[in-house]
Amino acid sequence: MTVVLPADAAAIARAAAILREGGLVAFPTETVYGLGADATEAWAVARIYDAKDRPSFNPLIAHVADLDAARREAALPEPALRLVEAFWPGALTIVAPAAPSGSVCDLARAGLPSVAVRIPAHPVAQALLAAVGRPIAAPSANRSGHVSPVTAAHVAEDLSGRVDMILDGGRTPAGLESTIVSFCEDSPALLRPGAVAREAIEKILGEKLAAPERAEILGPGMTPSHYAPAARLRLEAHELEEGEAALDFGGRLAARAQAGVFVLDLSPSGDLVEAAANLFAYLREFDARRIANVAVAHVPERGLGEAINDRLRRASAPRLD
Ligand code: TXA
Ligand code: MG
Repeated sequence: MTVVLPADAAAIARAAAILREGGLVAFPTETVYGLGADATEAWAVARIYDAKDRPSFNPLIAHVADLDAARREAALPEPALRLVEAFWPGALTIVAPAAPSGSVCDLARAGLPSVAVRIPAHPVAQALLAAVGRPIAAPSANRSGHVSPVTAAHVAEDLSGRVDMILDGGRTPAGLESTIVSFCEDSPALLRPGAVAREAIEKILGEKLAAPERAEILGPGMTPSHYAPAARLRLEAHELEEGEAALDFGGRLAARAQAGVFVLDLSPSGDLVEAAANLFAYLREFDARRIANVAVAHVPERGLGEAINDRLRRASAPRLD
């Protein structure tokens, strides 16, 4: 049975008790909804993979309450600490060597010598972490291969009956997962573009982010077709073809669309932050309307455009199944 509750103080206290007993709670963060379990208990973490139908044990992000907790889990080098100061709490995940004092279980780290940590900024996530008093392992709260959820209703569509509780904190503001930077190699590497733009990170670091060196350790979030709606997406469209709906940006395609064509515009004013916030909800909207073919307008590759285009390319990649 899955209870869905507005995320008030009583519901958060109940959620914390569920997590401490090894249960699963979906909760809002400022990026997307997370599917949380006690990160220190392998059997609780195992339930996450089961609920998501995840084909493999890829490593999960450990959400922590504060910097002390992050440093107990991960050996954060000096440049990582500068990013932490600039972006935490917030939509940045740091992968670093696991600290000897760490409590995140092997399963949540998929047996790797590293750990991914993040302090979320969302008040519900923060209250939950404070109440649990342990790191919470949480991938995005969707079935494996589906689009990440940005509302409690999206979570319920995918996971109702598979999690103990869904904390409803409204729609998540960023709408796109966190940016992941690894400090496990000689130079910092961008493992996943996300809600913090690459340029902002490079500015603080004073150097360019490298491409990941060991792509094979990356999980389903990094496989080509991971963010897959049912609709077929045709990227970089300049015109609409017969029978297509449109995922627009800045009104480019709408201007050429015939009357009656279904158009969702990620941002009519061409704002990339607004576009990121709308992306996953709009992909779900096409599926809800059983639309089979969607033409997608060009989205510029700057700022959050890098992460938006990354998700769009994955969503349009040939399916493995
Ligand atoms: O915004 C977000 O990051 C959301 C919210 C809930 O925090 N979480 C999320 O988790 O997107 P998930 O599991 O869908 O994506 C986590 C990514 C995966 O691609 C995983 O492979 C990578 O983080 N990751 C985690 N630990 C890692 C590690 N030790 N080394 C390399 N990659 C790691
Ligand atoms: Mg995910």
